[in-house]
Amino acid sequence: MAGENFLNAAGIGKHGNDTIFSWWAKFQEAKAAGKPAVNGTIGALLENDGSLAINKVVDAAVRNAPEQEISAYAPLAGLPSFLDLTKTLAFGDARTQLEELGFNFASTASPGGSGALFLAANNFLSAGQSALLRDRHWGPYKGFLQNNALEFETWPLLPPNGSEVHPYFAKDEFDTKLKQMCSSQDKIMVWLNDPAHNPTGLSMTPEGRFACLESFVDSALNNPDVGHTLLLDSAYSLYADETHAWADTILESIENGMMWPENLLICVAISLSKSHTIYGLRTGALVSMHPEKEVTDRMDTVMCVTARQTWSATPRVSQYCVSEMHSSEEGGKAWAEERDRLKQLLDDRRNALISECEKLGVPLNPTMDGFFAWLESDNPSEIAHKCADNGVFLVPLTGGVRIGLCALPLDEVPKVAEALSMALS
Ligand SMILES: Cc1ncc(COP(=O)(O)O)c(C=O)c1O
Repeated sequence: MAGENFLNAAGIGKHGNDTIFSWWAKFQEAKAAGKPAVNGTIGALLENDGSLAINKVVDAAVRNAPEQEISAYAPLAGLPSFLDLTKTLAFGDARTQLEELGFNFASTASPGGSGALFLAANNFLSAGQSALLRDRHWGPYKGFLQNNALEFETWPLLPPNGSEVHPYFAKDEFDTKLKQMCSSQDKIMVWLNDPAHNPTGLSMTPEGRFACLESFVDSALNNPDVGHTLLLDSAYSLYADETHAWADTILESIENGMMWPENLLICVAISLSKSHTIYGLRTGALVSMHPEKEVTDRMDTVMCVTARQTWSATPRVSQYCVSEMHSSEEGGKAWAEERDRLKQLLDDRRNALISECEKLGVPLNPTMDGFFAWLESDNPSEIAHKCADNGVFLVPLTGGVRIGLCALPLDEVPKVAEALSMALS
């Protein structure tokens, strides 16, 4: 293979297999050939006319940035005002109450949510250990973990036998995995992309979140020598109906007397790519929460050093602009109005897809929030090819077909349901 004498084993194992981009290319080919083509492939929010949807308030703030803020490095950990903002973005209104209850927060800026996930993968497990993910998850998780010599195990997205109490959390399987992993690892890390999951659009219910947190805390209490890190990937959560659902669950659990074991750390991977439509400005943060200040101070040091040794500093201009924007009530309100407009695009498309699929008997997975919807399937590639034959381009992934509501014009949504229906028949 070309380059083998230069590449190490890890490099040789890397193949250009980005399914999402290859299906987007198929859509573009069909369009260029003048065929009818519906784009449900890419993971960026598009307006109904196919142009990139932009939060105009963020855009205006970036364009007005002083030249110093554009050119200069940011401090290695991130701009202090931005780090403060990320704690609020992570925990919403609950932040102040959590602080009053004695909790401390750490935050380190990162190039997008991807950088935050890298910081976690690089520091929270030892080489050879496994992280725990749901079986349907964002594909790049695997690479972030493997590049840090980590493996992963999974538990099902939905309870295999259903659950009336928490229909979107497979508690028994989660408990079993935790138990197994605690017997073989001295550290546990769960990555949970909720609310507004990529690739399904699933959001757990409050009951599911309480059950999940309880299981994790019980596991930490029962295994005091095993470090337990719960990382919440909030990449799409500012487009969810309950934007700070996890913060609310955490706060309520603590107020109801939940014990916080010393060996429990909760982290939030923040991404401003979607929430502020600055995908290319690579801005995010890893926020950690723990009752002991010594612990969060240590996280600040470790993550800052890791950042320094990996990408140096995160872009300054975006950190500056969003923290200035959110520092005033009008700025925050103006951003939220734009966010609401963009969310409405997603809500309208999702409601239309759900209703069209219901009419045609297409068994769409539960989907509530965020950029995507999902059809579970044992042969996703066959379904995606059949849909493409009918001019509808979706993305076949492990276990199903991802429907990029974010990219679909509203009036094309019925065609997606029809193509899926035909593919299934
Ligand atoms: C589930 C999930 N997490 C994190 C990210 C991180 O995005 P970024 O690095 O662009 O901020 C993405 C982006 O697609 C995502 O889908």
